[in-house]
Amino acid sequence: MKYGYFDKENREYVIQRPDTPLPWINYLGSENYCALMSNTAGGYSFYKDPRERRILRYRYNNVPMDRGGRYLYLRDNKTKDFWSASWQPVLKKLKIKDQKAKSNSDYEYECRHGLGYTIISSEYSGIRTKTTYFVPLGENLEIWMLEVKFEPKKGALGVKSRDLSLFSFVEFCLWDALNDMTDYQYNLNIGETKVEENIIYHLSRYRVEQNLVGYFACTNVTAKGFDTQRKDFMGNYGNWSAPRAVVEGKMNNSLAVGWSPVGSQMFNFNLKSGETKTFIFVLGFTENIKEPLTKAEKFEDPNVIEKELEKLKNYWGGNLNNYSVQSEDPELDLMVNTWNQYQCRTTFNWSRSASYYESGIGRGMGFRDSNQDTLGFVHMIPEKVKERIIDLAANQFEDGSAYHQYSPLTKKGNGSGYGDDHLWLTVSIPAYVKETGDIRFLETEVPFVGGEKGTIYEHMARAINFSITHLGPHGLPKIYFADWNDCLNLTQEKEKAESVMIPQMVVYGAREMAKMAELIGKKEDIKKYNQIATEMTKKVNKVAWDGNWYIRAFDEDEEPLGSSKNKEGQIYLETQAWGVLSGAAEKDQAIKCMDSVRKHLWTQHGIMLMTPPYSKFIPKYGSICVYPPGLKENGAIFCHPNPWAMIAECIMGRGDLAYEYYKAVQPAAHNETADLYKTEPYVYCQMIAGKHHKDFGEGKNSWLTGSASWNFVAVSQWILGIRPDYEGLLVDPCIPKAWKGFQVKRIFRGSTYYITVRNPEGVSKGVKSVTLDNKRLTSNLIPPDKTGGKEHHTEVIMG
Ligand code: GLC
Repeated sequence: MKYGYFDKENREYVIQRPDTPLPWINYLGSENYCALMSNTAGGYSFYKDPRERRILRYRYNNVPMDRGGRYLYLRDNKTKDFWSASWQPVLKKLKIKDQKAKSNSDYEYECRHGLGYTIISSEYSGIRTKTTYFVPLGENLEIWMLEVKFEPKKGALGVKSRDLSLFSFVEFCLWDALNDMTDYQYNLNIGETKVEENIIYHLSRYRVEQNLVGYFACTNVTAKGFDTQRKDFMGNYGNWSAPRAVVEGKMNNSLAVGWSPVGSQMFNFNLKSGETKTFIFVLGFTENIKEPLTKAEKFEDPNVIEKELEKLKNYWGGNLNNYSVQSEDPELDLMVNTWNQYQCRTTFNWSRSASYYESGIGRGMGFRDSNQDTLGFVHMIPEKVKERIIDLAANQFEDGSAYHQYSPLTKKGNGSGYGDDHLWLTVSIPAYVKETGDIRFLETEVPFVGGEKGTIYEHMARAINFSITHLGPHGLPKIYFADWNDCLNLTQEKEKAESVMIPQMVVYGAREMAKMAELIGKKEDIKKYNQIATEMTKKVNKVAWDGNWYIRAFDEDEEPLGSSKNKEGQIYLETQAWGVLSGAAEKDQAIKCMDSVRKHLWTQHGIMLMTPPYSKFIPKYGSICVYPPGLKENGAIFCHPNPWAMIAECIMGRGDLAYEYYKAVQPAAHNETADLYKTEPYVYCQMIAGKHHKDFGEGKNSWLTGSASWNFVAVSQWILGIRPDYEGLLVDPCIPKAWKGFQVKRIFRGSTYYITVRNPEGVSKGVKSVTLDNKRLTSNLIPPDKTGGKEHHTEVIMG
């Protein structure tokens, strides 16, 4: 069953029925103002920090689901019938497209999620609506533009004009989203609103913050009335589907002094047959009380709105222009050219803070997560990645370890004690340098937590140093609270548990350090880091090789996890893939461990994180065994490490396998099976239920996940093989043998490369010749064009 389709031309995903298995959402706003927007106008907005500056209230885990949003109610004043422009929350009976309409009055719908905007259209009883929602570039506000048209159905006689009312509605959050849902003795007494010149102001003070202003206004039509106290709009014991004001067709002009501030305005209007009326709303945040009026004036003209939307589209077009492909797989093209990059930008902005599965109050910018999020974004706006890396490095301690996360508002860190966080700097920083060639960045000084200053290079050096000096009984780095696998919380009473993935990361990081040392002329460090990598490799291969695969960790009692000796949790994916991608695995080990992945972990829906899942709680393993078998870290198909397996396969030259793994988790490939997959077919989800779960194949936790970046890296840099390196752009595809070739346009260090890859001999890997502007190169590394700004044509023959 499918709920929508990709409109390739317009870069939109078009949802044709509103009752999707889960809300299918979009993110509006790309800088400080963010609006989560579902396909039925649910969601909320915040300024910079979803916890401290929450503008709209949203009810997570609510029944019915997805309540709290950007609602517009329409009312026919003659019949007193009413409906919503976004189906929710009134929920009129749907006219199902492939079924003959039974009556004229059934509800029709379409939602177009585009890049930074969403358009929801409806048709009900001859009234068509189209609402365009977006955040204009550089603004801390969102626009809703509603166009209402009376378009009588063919054959409908008699009615020449319609007497209608429109009601806008938002519910304000009392700024601190956690307090808002916990401390009612306090927060039911702080609400305050004011209404002036057609603008509703939300002025509740929160603790010492005196000047936070939310505002909501119709900019081009004067309201007939308003309500800003929820119970006056809803009615006592009223509800979203039939609010009192809409049922009765009148407002109370209520002001909130305490209780629950909302924003609603009513407009009365007539539409003649064929006539359209446009209403423009702004919803925004400011700390300057004078600003709302200026913004209302700025955005009162539909032409201005259209222009702003155009600007936004161009902005996104430009953003996604640095990598595009034309291959034999249209779904791959859709994902790579548009949706995967779009998701990477979103995860870069909001880390794991605010989604439909992350409430925006628990986690800020995760250290481990945000470092990885740079990987799928660095080719778009590297300067932003540079800033992000600096913020992250500033949350590293002098001993080399790091805070687990930091607040996006204050940039202050919190939580610590993970074995891996700091090492992700040795993944993100090399990626930035490879993209930009900016080796000077390594000399940038950034203070550690505690004040001591160190260069970016020194930050990486300390990260490695921490892990090679905090070793357990096998000589492997201690795992502490967890490594990448957040739920592997092996008891730490004796502080003995060790990770096998962390030393593999050390190998990876140390090799990158050695290369960077070479670039910046630190001769003694080249040797030092190569030695660290070699020693760690030897150790891992000696103590953590189980015969056919790498074990995963050693617990407090020095017993292995992820070993054939274990009854459950015998094999884990992470250490196989990282064994290969770090370069630690010897050739035969690489083949063996990745063959073991295929044999034990592969399913038609992707590669499970481990198997067999734990069937009961084992206290010394921690929260991994909390989940029922097949969910989350306990044996789900985690979409974040799946691309590590794709990369490993590409390193080994097994392009058919890499591609098969890619297709299994690729969202667009699930478009036709949305009833099973459930989450949005245009973005990656965190996991898919594994084969031990009854809903095997069901996707969960979409949008904010490391799956976005890593899948982009795997497909763009490894399968298609266009990969930035310190000294140029590598062309090293690893594709299905049946592919005849593909084309990529890549903007790299200021020049545009049109790369045509041909595969006449039907191989997966191997480059026979490369020509750059008709001149043959001696290797598959395209040297950077130092003059920049030019176009180059590259032809690559595989074989
Ligand atoms: C979640 C976390 C991430 C962790 C992963 C595996 O996606 O955000 O930090 O690495 O789970 O446990």
